[in-house]
Amino acid sequence: MALSLVVLASGRGSNFKAILDAIAAGKCGAKVEALICDHAGAPVLEIAKSAKIPIHVIEKKDFASPLAFDEKLLALLSQHNPGLVVLAGYMRILRSPKIFEKYRRRILNIHPSLLPKYPGAHAQKDAFDAGEKVSGLTIHLVDESLDAGPILYQEKVDISGCKSAEEVSEKILAREHLAYPRVIDKIARDEIKI
Ligand code: GRF
Repeated sequence: MALSLVVLASGRGSNFKAILDAIAAGKCGAKVEALICDHAGAPVLEIAKSAKIPIHVIEKKDFASPLAFDEKLLALLSQHNPGLVVLAGYMRILRSPKIFEKYRRRILNIHPSLLPKYPGAHAQKDAFDAGEKVSGLTIHLVDESLDAGPILYQEKVDISGCKSAEEVSEKILAREHLAYPRVIDKIARDEIKI
């Protein structure tokens, strides 16, 4: 049976699209049950609409605290009860201990650097500014730490020819789109144990 996913995303959604495309092409043994997005105008919503994926939008402004936001998030997750929660450009930190109680080792994230190097929101620029010749991507389980949960997969990307941080981002992103569905597929097949 396909591994059921709920995807959390905040913006562009190119990794979300890559996962949907890989599933449609029979290359990823998963099924996206829903998208949860924290920005009403995010482009990722259009991608979900076209693919007829159920959407939930929850915005920070409607909640008194980050914890209250996460309580709602947990309620939405529980509604679908996925095998795996996939963060794909989700720009919020998960704060509710209850989320980790219920989904520990079942929340996946992709990050555009070779962690533990360059955690945070500007990983590609940080690598470029540091003059790195090689950076890459990391797929890891999410825990209470920021970008520091158990690593499942890493891939190096040669960025020595890149002339800007944007170029670094593009080069890594192209590899993210291949790697993320592949790792999800391996989890579905139990070839990567979580
Ligand atoms: C990707 O670079 C991902 O590694 C990071 O956020 C970006 C999301 O891009 N976590 P997209 O929304 O999937 O296009």
